[in-house]
Amino acid sequence: MIRLKIENPAGEMREIGVQAEGSLMEAIRDNGFDELLASCGGGCSCGTCHVVIDTASFSQLAAMSADEDSLLDGCDHREKGSRLSCQIRMSDELDGLKLRIPPNS
Ligand code: FES
Repeated sequence: MIRLKIENPAGEMREIGVQAEGSLMEAIRDNGFDELLASCGGGCSCGTCHVVIDTASFSQLAAMSADEDSLLDGCDHREKGSRLSCQIRMSDELDGLKLRIPPNS
């Protein structure tokens, strides 16, 4: 079981437990965080699965692709820990990951 700490745009923090399968976007959506639109369904073409990873957790992630980086440039509220959650595969290494869903992600 992988534990994730997720803060919604209203500032409410919730911890969830998920399996090491699928993407981070799917894990978030499957646990009722409807604020994460993920309009393209994980195709790396919409940017609406934008999340901000806590800086202490950022080293747990693999590097982003050039496509992800380019799409994030078009997102409102991009910051240092920004990632597209559909591009992050769930794995045991992500246990304890802390992240925030920005407004209008
Ligand atoms: S769901 Fe569209 S870019 Fe991630």
